[in-house]
Amino acid sequence: MCGIVGIIGTEPVAVRLLDALKRLEYRGYDSAGIATLHDGKLERRRAKGKLVALEKRLSDEPLGGTIGIGHTRWATHGKPTEKNAHPHISGGVCVVHNGIIENFKILRAELASDGYDFVTETDTEVIAHLIAREIDAGNDPQAALKASLERLEGAFALAVLFQGHDNLMIGARRGSPFAIGYGSDDQPGMFIGSDAFALAPFTNRIAYLEEGDWVVLSKDSATIYDEGGAQVNRPITTSMANALLVDKGNHRHFMAKEIHEQPEVISRTLSHYIDLGNEKVDFSSLDIDFQSLDRLSITACGTAYYAGLVAKYWIEKWGGLPVDVDVASEFRYREPLLSDNGAALFVSQSGETADTLACLAYCNEKNQKTLSIVNVQESSIARGSDAVLPTLAGPEIGVASTKAFTCQLTVLAALTIHIGRQRGVLSKEQEVELVHSLVEVPRLISEMLVEEAKIDAISQQLVHAKDVLYLGRGIHYPLALEGALKLKEISYIHAEAYAAGELKHGPIALIDENMPVVVVVPKDGLFDKTISNCQEVAARGGQIIFISDCDAKTTGCDFVSQISLPRGNEFIAPLLCAIPVQLLAYYTAVHMGTDVDQPRNLAKSVTVE
Ligand code: AGP
Repeated sequence: MCGIVGIIGTEPVAVRLLDALKRLEYRGYDSAGIATLHDGKLERRRAKGKLVALEKRLSDEPLGGTIGIGHTRWATHGKPTEKNAHPHISGGVCVVHNGIIENFKILRAELASDGYDFVTETDTEVIAHLIAREIDAGNDPQAALKASLERLEGAFALAVLFQGHDNLMIGARRGSPFAIGYGSDDQPGMFIGSDAFALAPFTNRIAYLEEGDWVVLSKDSATIYDEGGAQVNRPITTSMANALLVDKGNHRHFMAKEIHEQPEVISRTLSHYIDLGNEKVDFSSLDIDFQSLDRLSITACGTAYYAGLVAKYWIEKWGGLPVDVDVASEFRYREPLLSDNGAALFVSQSGETADTLACLAYCNEKNQKTLSIVNVQESSIARGSDAVLPTLAGPEIGVASTKAFTCQLTVLAALTIHIGRQRGVLSKEQEVELVHSLVEVPRLISEMLVEEAKIDAISQQLVHAKDVLYLGRGIHYPLALEGALKLKEISYIHAEAYAAGELKHGPIALIDENMPVVVVVPKDGLFDKTISNCQEVAARGGQIIFISDCDAKTTGCDFVSQISLPRGNEFIAPLLCAIPVQLLAYYTAVHMGTDVDQPRNLAKSVTVE
């Protein structure tokens, strides 16, 4: 997944393109580049590594021009080198691309045999040569672009410049998001980008290309065509994307800031779904009759998937509705038997995850009622759903999801109560009790954050580990999964999670004094069984980190390092357990000196399958 941006206007563009790329860095940051048309000539600057490297290159070798395109990359084909960085050029054609060209090998061979020399390992380069070949055959840019699109298979959002045409930019979208920004008197011009957030400093008047659309832009116009070449109109909306680039405040990392924002953003999200005066949840704007549903299918990726797993326990126990939960990359390929009275729920922080987006399209085709929980309300997943339940976490910059996860859980917990009430399995008294327990969450998390230094100290037990095991039972097993993912993705230490009861069926062979075991074990009906698992681990020398609202010493497990949870209704335990597993991963990574906010090999939003 990568980020693309383009500006065609009357003022210099290079600095503004770089600004927009900084807002797209969450989509990939292993290399970047900008190209402009200046005095009729294509000029390009690229750099390996993060955007600061490109910024340095541009200050050493400034780029002129009032039309340009930019790209920040997460490598799919070809190493993250300067040579492979976009934009890519062939003759007088210059391209930036987000997506994957699935038939690039065939096209590469065909173009090479036609005499087009390849200088990169990327799939994108075939697009530049393909368009250049059409130009060389005498076609104008528009016809050249259209003919080339017909040869491409796969996903793309692309923007193209043409030498000799300094009032022309062409863009196209298939399977990757593409926003058009309409300038104004104080920021004249036309803009394109992977999302509205990138264009927020320039305009909030945004239209989105739909699947198969392509667009011809001049300094003051955008003409949009559909896949068949017919001119179409796409609505211009007013984006809410925040023009202020979020900063870290007084925190060392965005991840730390976002962990500490959780009490505030969970409160904000709760206030959106809870009518506290009447001690009830409020989903009056949600047009889904959960009473008539016989199944709910939840699909997501990564951390969002773990939120979905927690929701399964909640919704089946308190909502009385059967729930299936799938990772998006598996869901549609198993050809699920979807009920005619089913609904499909998609959970996604970015709202742009390609695997999840593809499942949304699949469920829409199967006439499922589709509902999404997203943190970006103008995202592709939000725009493609029948109904949207926003998480009000604010922009989440750290690649490792934290506040978005607990806000997803917050929405899912409130939705559970709504489902339970609609299906008549929750009494008004139970609703009041659960609502009150939810309302306590921000305060309880604040109390836990005060104790973070203890978790920092305990994280030293993980710093030298080669492998770490996370255990949990029931609704806390997804929190073990989330804890293992957090540790993996920011500290690069291998970690895996198991349902605690599974330990004896194999994984216990791993246990010795070198294997830290993190046990997520709030007091509930499965508590004693998990304590037995702790004894089994201790008997084999395993080092246990015990996350519980129950004092380990009262359980005979006085050999553990305890991280204490505040006591609360078991309904909210998953929200509380998220904090210690986040902090444990964070401090381990800090001690290891890894790049906490932009870990290697990752990107914040995975917009390729
Ligand atoms: C979580 O820390 C990871 N960054 C990753 O697993 C993420 O949750 C996943 O890619 C899904 O992203 P989304 O919520 O934007 O769809």
